[in-house]
Amino acid sequence: MSPQPQAAVGAPLSRVDGRLKVTGKARYAVDHEIAGAVHAVIVDSSIGRGRITGIDTRAALDHAGVLKVISHVNAPKLPYQRNPLPTAPPGERLHVFQDDKVHFHGQPVAVVVATTLEAAQHGASLVKVTYDAQQPSTDMADAPAGEPQKYARGDTDKALEVAAVRMEMTYDLARNNHNAMEPHATTARWDGDKLTVWDKTQWVFGTQIELAVVFGVAPESVRVISPFVGGGFGSGLRAWPHVTIAALAARETKRPVKLALSRKQLYFGTGFRPTYEYAVRLGSDRRGRLTAMTHDVRAETSSYETFLESVLIPGQMLYSMPHVSQEYRTVPLDVHTPLFMRGPGYTTASYAIESAMDELADKLGLDPIELRLRNEPEEDESSGLPFSTRRLRECYAVGAREFGWHRRNPGPRSTRDGDWLIGTGMAAGVYDTARNDAQASVRLDADGTALVQSAASDMGPGTYTSNTQLAADALGLPMGKVTFRLGDSLMPPAPPHGGSWTMASVGSAVQDGCDKLRKQAVKLAVEDAKSPLHGVNPDTVVVRAGRLHVKHNPARGETYQQLLARNNRTHLEAMGSFTRPTGPERHSLFAYGAVFTEVAVDARLGLVRVRRMLGVYDAGRIISPKLADSQALGGMVGGIGQALLEHTVTDHRDGRIVNANLADYLVPVNADVPDLRAIYLDGDDRDADPIGVKGLGEIVQVGVAPAIANAVFHATGRRIRELPITTEALL
Ligand code: MOS
Repeated sequence: MSPQPQAAVGAPLSRVDGRLKVTGKARYAVDHEIAGAVHAVIVDSSIGRGRITGIDTRAALDHAGVLKVISHVNAPKLPYQRNPLPTAPPGERLHVFQDDKVHFHGQPVAVVVATTLEAAQHGASLVKVTYDAQQPSTDMADAPAGEPQKYARGDTDKALEVAAVRMEMTYDLARNNHNAMEPHATTARWDGDKLTVWDKTQWVFGTQIELAVVFGVAPESVRVISPFVGGGFGSGLRAWPHVTIAALAARETKRPVKLALSRKQLYFGTGFRPTYEYAVRLGSDRRGRLTAMTHDVRAETSSYETFLESVLIPGQMLYSMPHVSQEYRTVPLDVHTPLFMRGPGYTTASYAIESAMDELADKLGLDPIELRLRNEPEEDESSGLPFSTRRLRECYAVGAREFGWHRRNPGPRSTRDGDWLIGTGMAAGVYDTARNDAQASVRLDADGTALVQSAASDMGPGTYTSNTQLAADALGLPMGKVTFRLGDSLMPPAPPHGGSWTMASVGSAVQDGCDKLRKQAVKLAVEDAKSPLHGVNPDTVVVRAGRLHVKHNPARGETYQQLLARNNRTHLEAMGSFTRPTGPERHSLFAYGAVFTEVAVDARLGLVRVRRMLGVYDAGRIISPKLADSQALGGMVGGIGQALLEHTVTDHRDGRIVNANLADYLVPVNADVPDLRAIYLDGDDRDADPIGVKGLGEIVQVGVAPAIANAVFHATGRRIRELPITTEALL
């Protein structure tokens, strides 16, 4: 079969939805105009643990415009059936307004529904709640951990005992919050026993299933619509309590309800990247060949659910060594449940491992890249599988050349620029290539335009654009003739929009559907006695700019419109699918990266400035280079935040988050973000998926924080083993 000409894929196109976004025409969760909608505002618990002893709603109900106040006192009992999704963490989720117990500071204790947002806000301030308060436990350092998840190969104790070089370090990572631009928000409307919600979510089916089991209705009775998501970073991978509250408030008031969390409420109303403590012991020979590594990991979780993520994987496969032992414990605290945040698990592990590698390189007087090359595995030593593609060596080589790595003076605190100490650092990154079942419907109309749909999400990476590119090339249409729609549970299913799954899964389904439709059209033409293509071998036909023709004889052909009109067809349609291969994987599938950075540290003030950063990625095929850059640069910015600024601070006296706002929780601003550059190794990984992508959105944050930490060490000679690296720590 002649391959389709590629015009759109690989071209640096702008977002197809860009104009909608910058003109305010993109509708987010509470922007939709829903007739008769009223507003809901949540009242948050002001204690960190205990019991509600009373709720006085009289003043709130007297306030003009307030329709109802719902709390455990008057809320109906909700079925809260078990959530069957494999993504639901072990334990039992928070049941809203079902009893008087308070599990964390900020837990919803009531909701006020009013005709205007202002009335609901004021009404919420008038609800008087009294408590029987207990001392919450929110400090991981003081609390006992649960049973560990374990992994082991070889005999680490013995190997460490005999190792020529032994090191032991503990790294601490602060809690981080996602802080997407759009706050979490939900609009809910009941029509009889049918529920429609417009939600900020990275997974319309996740929200659909959660609402169905909470309210005890069939999933088909719940429709979830989410065409635009104003950033997510993982926070939209689960339906949080406010989604249930919006639906409950709508049911109780018999009005459509809009509920948006305030910026402050996002810090306790949605998940977070948990606080971590990551202890490493390593052994190597004198030439830097690793023999053993232990990883003892502790992370916070809530008292009611155990949140786990893939924090152990990098330690099992990033470097070659015979002996590995790992224990991963969660510490239940009086906090709400964490959730995945960009590069989940991997950013955490890579910070510890890549810092430890830098410490080992320094101890042995080896170049950090050379140390890594000496420990490069030939196969995935955790599974024994061959790598589909693993091009870290090239990432290092290209990165070192483009960054000018070998011009550095290797000695710590060896380079100055006036008052500034200058340092460079690097780190490796890894993130698994996962994908899951997806479908996409494709319809080609008689006017020569196509509509492709899949219930995916686009929290920012450009799902709309990249799938339009794939579809345009596979159908042989210009970009402007193809519309890709997503974000509605009535559409063909897509997996969660996270873990860098979307392109591999949904993209492969889109490609499949468009290929099927194009072949249908070609078949129709070659079998049609009136077609100029009649009798032609279908494998020699390509479609370009909406016109089917013989590949080597472009004059012989006709347009989709001519073909459909002559055959009295209003449209053609096809369903594309991608099915994750069943059974054990035959390859070890990961995306890789190497991050290089230069920092300047004010010798007297301890202020750290990132001066430049380069990421080199082995991420498979790049469908949409301009949006890939948008991802890569965004990941670097996220990593700068994680390394130097972001820290959710809890007051352990009462469990209150004290910096629940963007003035006190620092994220990088333009002045913190220097010259950033991304390079993608030319690649195509067909062992991963039919379109050859390995995922990009997560790998681009992995490795950034340790590269910065290593550069800070190189600049100052000070090894700071905690994130964020603050001015105070450097003084
Ligand atoms: Mo990503 S943390 O899986 O949205």
